[in-house]
Amino acid sequence: MKFSVITLFPRIVEAFAAEGLLAQARERGLLALETVNPRQFTEDVHQTVDDRTFGGGDGMVMKVEPLARAVATLEPGTRVVVLSPQGRLWQQSEAAAWAKEGRPVAFVCGRYAGIDHRFTVKYADDEISIGDYVLNGGEVAACAIIESVARLIPGVLGNAVSAARDSFSERLLECPQFTRPREVEGMSVPAPLLSGHHAKINEFENSVALVRTALFRPDLLSAEAELQPAVKVVGALNDNELYALGLTREDLKELQ
Ligand SMILES: C[S@@+](CC[C@H](N)C(=O)[O-])C[C@H]1O[C@@H](n2cnc3c(N)ncnc32)[C@H](O)[C@@H]1O
Repeated sequence: MKFSVITLFPRIVEAFAAEGLLAQARERGLLALETVNPRQFTEDVHQTVDDRTFGGGDGMVMKVEPLARAVATLEPGTRVVVLSPQGRLWQQSEAAAWAKEGRPVAFVCGRYAGIDHRFTVKYADDEISIGDYVLNGGEVAACAIIESVARLIPGVLGNAVSAARDSFSERLLECPQFTRPREVEGMSVPAPLLSGHHAKINEFENSVALVRTALFRPDLLSAEAELQPAVKVVGALNDNELYALGLTREDLKELQ
């Protein structure tokens, strides 16, 4: 899958994609990444990419023409995404859909006060935000989205199962994970996880996922979710096991 990033700061994105699993995926030909600097497409000696805003607002706005010329260099069929705090919120379900589809994507990164909105109206297939906060530029947002999609491209993660059970994949937060030793500072790995019985482990992890989602991200829970059997499973743990899950008896009472 090919990602292009149209940015005035290509080194931010290149440094990010030169490390870890993304770098390995690029080496193995599972994904390609290019950066395109709109300064290349200016026609004046100062390589001007921005100008003052009409209406007297603060700061500079990125001009339409250099960005439009940068878009013209993209492979035909590329999905053009403008990154903006005003876009719709990025979601795991969409990361999965993009990874499956494999269509090339180009991210247009704003800087300063943002991008002349006429560029978005004319050239963007999509306007996406990574959260309700404002960054200095779109590069971090592009990196976040690229990573969330890339890790779902078959073969990018060593073990495909590790992504299938991640938080949000089944709409819930994932059950917390533990490693050795079994006891640390008064916290115990919950016994059901040590049972070696796959169906039991699955049932326990699903119950914990439901309970933690109900407590910490109730917005993710569907109205049909059956909470009480899960509360009962988690309630059977001892205090040290509950502590390890970041839960208290009071939390469970709140859900009853
Ligand atoms: C300082 S911001 C401009 C914000 C703009 N004035 C507004 O309030 O909507 C500069 C650039 O950072 C990027 N950016 C900032 N916050 C973002 C977010 N939450 N998600 C995606 N991109 C963001 C966008 O590309 C934006 O054009």
